[in-house]
Amino acid sequence: MASNKKLLILAGDGIGPEAMTQVRRVVDWMDKRRSVGFDIDEGLVGGAAIDAEGAPVSDATVEKAMNSDAVLLGAVGGPKWDDLPFAQKPERGLLRLRKDMVLFANLRPALCFDALVDASALKPELVSGLDIMIVRELTGGIYFGEPRGIEELPDGTRRGINTQVYTTPEIQRVARVAFDLAKKRGNRLCSVEKANVMESGVLWREEVTKLGAAEFPEVELSHMYADNCAMQLVRNPKQFDVIVTDNLFGDILSDAAAMLTGSLGMLPSASLGDMDAQGRRMALYEPVHGSAPDIAGQNKANPLATLLSFAMMLRYSFDLGDDADLIEQAVQDVLAAGKRTGDIAQPGQPVVSTSEMGDAILAALDKRAA
Ligand code: IPM
Ligand code: MG
Repeated sequence: MASNKKLLILAGDGIGPEAMTQVRRVVDWMDKRRSVGFDIDEGLVGGAAIDAEGAPVSDATVEKAMNSDAVLLGAVGGPKWDDLPFAQKPERGLLRLRKDMVLFANLRPALCFDALVDASALKPELVSGLDIMIVRELTGGIYFGEPRGIEELPDGTRRGINTQVYTTPEIQRVARVAFDLAKKRGNRLCSVEKANVMESGVLWREEVTKLGAAEFPEVELSHMYADNCAMQLVRNPKQFDVIVTDNLFGDILSDAAAMLTGSLGMLPSASLGDMDAQGRRMALYEPVHGSAPDIAGQNKANPLATLLSFAMMLRYSFDLGDDADLIEQAVQDVLAAGKRTGDIAQPGQPVVSTSEMGDAILAALDKRAA
């Protein structure tokens, strides 16, 4: 019997905790019914951590995260903490985890489930069968570049500064992850920047090109400017297989790609670090959606993005592709059976609650595993 996996759960704010409650039921189901076992620890992040511990993530929680086999995170943020100084905002907790754990590769699949083709804002023929993987650089670029800040000018006006900066190793390590994924998928990689206006984009393009030629000659590599990529994503999204891009463009393009699939409420993500000598990599899994304060605490949220994030954990951290498949099939089953939370329901379609969606998933798992 393999040893238990150390899992840290950080439910966070808003709809995070209620979505996580449903996912916990699936984690427990896996623990009982499949070969994998979990040792689960919990902690606070975001506004919840600010209120209880005085910081958006405590040193102790970061330490725990670094010593876990994987972290599952709900969502952070909410209006209650909007007026806090920048460095104390809930989002800083998430950004610190990404940075301290060196989770430089953020995998954001945009996959259109058959049953949800009609929930997309795009025509069904454009999105049916859609399966894109966006690889977003997550620990560099303008999110973390120095200098940054807001300064007072002598004339009494102010100046806001952020810096977009990338080095060769930063570009290479995320591009390598993207090339590797492309090899396991459709063998096509599109690298996205704005080399027409940014030197960091010129460097990005040159380094990705060099790496491709040296290590991945079999992968078909193309390049695209970020604005064009945004347009192509809504014009003809199925032209893409894997996209690799920087932190800020990846943030924006992944939201656009998410909406192609019908709802942000469906999309998971994986944030991965480098492999250590023991073959273990730090990893954090979280839905792409935010804390949705407008519906928080009302049992309305869609728990499927958090659940699918757990499935990504099984696949990428624990090499348990069969168990990940099982969860993804259960999701397809409940969607095919017409179960819809509000975010993915068509007008007039009956809506289920967060916990009813959890019930349906467990029933589907029981049935599949029977
Ligand atoms: C995301 C979010 C975060 C980001 C926020 C919450 C800091 O939008 O994960 O896409 O900008 O990276
Ligand atoms: Mg975002």
